[in-house]
Amino acid sequence: MIEVKNISKSFGKIRAVRSLSFEIKKGEIFGFLGPNGAGKTTTIKILLGILKPDEGEIFFEGENVFKNIENYRRQIGYVSQEVSLYKDLNISENAEFRAGIYGVSEKDFFKNYKNLLEKFELKEWEKELVKNLPTGVERRTSLLCALIHDPKILFLDEPSSGMDPLSRFRFFNETIRELKQKGKTILITTHYMEEAEYFERVLLIHKGEKKALDKPENLKEKIKKEKNLNKLPDMEEVFFEIVAGER
Ligand SMILES: Nc1ncnc2c1ncn2[C@@H]1O[C@H](COP(=O)(O)OP(=O)(O)OP(=O)(O)O)[C@@H](O)[C@H]1O
Ligand SMILES: [Mg+2]
Repeated sequence: MIEVKNISKSFGKIRAVRSLSFEIKKGEIFGFLGPNGAGKTTTIKILLGILKPDEGEIFFEGENVFKNIENYRRQIGYVSQEVSLYKDLNISENAEFRAGIYGVSEKDFFKNYKNLLEKFELKEWEKELVKNLPTGVERRTSLLCALIHDPKILFLDEPSSGMDPLSRFRFFNETIRELKQKGKTILITTHYMEEAEYFERVLLIHKGEKKALDKPENLKEKIKKEKNLNKLPDMEEVFFEIVAGER
């Protein structure tokens, strides 16, 4: 669905993304796993068309995204790492604002908004200003806003950071699963190695470079074989084995 070919991006001397290539398949939960500064956010911003890569190309459903960037952007929902909601507006006003940017018709807006409000259990908070919302509720509001134009793809930049274990469990096992069942294609970044379990395929990224891309279980099997281990390693061990020598 999305094909990324050899994208690179530098900020002065910092080579944030180095000749990165990968594909995201339709309907898959694709994970981007890497430590702080690995280049996850930079890659997402390039995929969103917010940041222009120094080199490389991105294709969406076979077409170069820069040919028709407006159309491409309408297919994507995005939750950024930093807060992106207006604190002095309430949930419905934030949602309306987002819908306006994407040119969602009034009819579609009300239909989507009502469904999402229910799905994310936000009804009781609807008229509350965002600045007064508890963290978890604010996160669900960000998701609602990202989905208000019913995008095909969802990019989530570190959605689980700061979540308590129960919220994280529910987020991956309920919210993300449901979105997949609805046919969404989802890219999630994280620096929590154990979250790789929730991804169908995971790209390990370190210092802007792709270190591996496969199903989590395949990566574990590979390291088990290579290191002659008597049990499967966890993803943290996998990551450190793969980037060993570079720390
Ligand atoms: N606008 C910018 N100007 C200068 N350097 C930048 C800029 N954006 C990112 N960088 C640098 O590029 C590298 C990759 O940053 P990026 O934010 O993509 O990493 P990340 O994997 O998202 O990290 P984190 O887990 O901390 O969010 C880092 O060294 C960062 O300092
Ligand atoms: Mg980041």
